[in-house]
Amino acid sequence: MCEYVIEGGKRLFGECSVQGAKNSALPILAAALLCDGKSVIYNCPDLLDVDATANILRHLGCSVSRNGHTVSVDSSEAMGNEIPEPLMREMRSSVIFLGAILAKNRKVRLSTPGGCEIGLRPIDLHLDAMRRLGAQITEEYGHIECTAPDGLKGTNITLSFPSVGATENIIIAASTAKGTTTVINAAREPEISDLADFLNGCGAKISGAGQGTVVIEGVKKLTGSSHSVITDRIVAATYMAATAITGGKVRLVNIIPAHLGPMIDLFEETGCKIKTDCRSVCIEAPSQLKSVKMIRTMPYPGFPTDIQAPVGAMLTKAKGTSVIIETIFENRFKYIGELIRFGAKVRVDGRMAVIEGVPALHGAKVKTSDLRGGAALIIAGLGAEGETVITDIKHIERGYESPEKTLSGLSGSIRRIDKNGSEESD
Ligand code: EPZ
Repeated sequence: MCEYVIEGGKRLFGECSVQGAKNSALPILAAALLCDGKSVIYNCPDLLDVDATANILRHLGCSVSRNGHTVSVDSSEAMGNEIPEPLMREMRSSVIFLGAILAKNRKVRLSTPGGCEIGLRPIDLHLDAMRRLGAQITEEYGHIECTAPDGLKGTNITLSFPSVGATENIIIAASTAKGTTTVINAAREPEISDLADFLNGCGAKISGAGQGTVVIEGVKKLTGSSHSVITDRIVAATYMAATAITGGKVRLVNIIPAHLGPMIDLFEETGCKIKTDCRSVCIEAPSQLKSVKMIRTMPYPGFPTDIQAPVGAMLTKAKGTSVIIETIFENRFKYIGELIRFGAKVRVDGRMAVIEGVPALHGAKVKTSDLRGGAALIIAGLGAEGETVITDIKHIERGYESPEKTLSGLSGSIRRIDKNGSEESD
């Protein structure tokens, strides 16, 4: 059992680079299954979720090798069409394999991906879209079986909600369908465009990704290629929030400022100075942050739900009262119960959190229950006086690559302790 031990109150200074995007790497690795031969994916973050995705690819018959941030996938021998329950449970977003397996093998069997800490996470939009593409679907005893014996056929699909995962499954499945598919009300996140760029590099014909309407002209086959994953905009904003709560000044390099749009506006509203150039962002925080009247999470290009918790933690020390409305997931305020242990003053009422800023937080022993809620606890610990211990850090390591190394490199005092005795880094 590992934990982070943080000595708070130290201002973050310096420069850091940001890892590749988890939410881009996962669908791209799943899509590699559909591409004949070998794909080489660069800038793949070293995360538990990437490990889980590689395990699923191996289970399906791919050979997967990894050299640092480069993951190679050869799908030549991949004939598998089932993801067993333990692998599905290891990572609920493995539903992203649905479209790739169905398109490749005309049959796929998954166990129903359970909900997770932040919500029920239904997949009805994914399944409805696969039916529109010609699949027959049976759901029984916690398993989903999709078959398309005659292959998938292009069609028009209008999503009732711009679901990121459903958009990705449609793009992947439709890329080798017979005919053209048009997706209306598609998700517009940058990770969607990155997936389309990878698939187009493999011979797909996808246009409009990142817009509200995506057109996929089916091709006979895709051939593996190489691709470098975009930088993780959520991790970048997390380290910006960490800088802000400590009153520090940090430059983040090799990032894509355009992907941080609504988040930059928010940091400026708290009184932070932000300077950007084509591949970096510099944030300089005031000694006292200002509160933010209202944050409402929305699909891209709105304020991202994934940065709600880190920003919520940052605002616990802002001067004044801030309000956050979480419109995407029904249970994404669980971290607030732990924030209160630091002395934060927060009230939650359904989808709304009201954060009354306090002059200081004190260190606490806290427990992580989900990925971004865990990042929020690191931020509170950095901004608190005294020592903080965070347990159950595996949740955090699903999406953040060695945060203790990045934050220590910025003068933060954070250690990763393996309770079996070894202290792994400072
Ligand atoms: C992706 O999840 C991300 N995960 C999430 O990041 C992110 O929070 C989310 O998109 C929104 O941006 C990955 O990319 C691996 P959705 P996804 O489908 O695809 C409802 C993180 O912290 N919905 O856009 O599951 C759903 O219940 C993770 O990195 C349906 O009702 O998100 C939710 O309310 C967390 N039916 C909303 O849509 C469906 O069939 C958004 O879900 C699908 C979704």
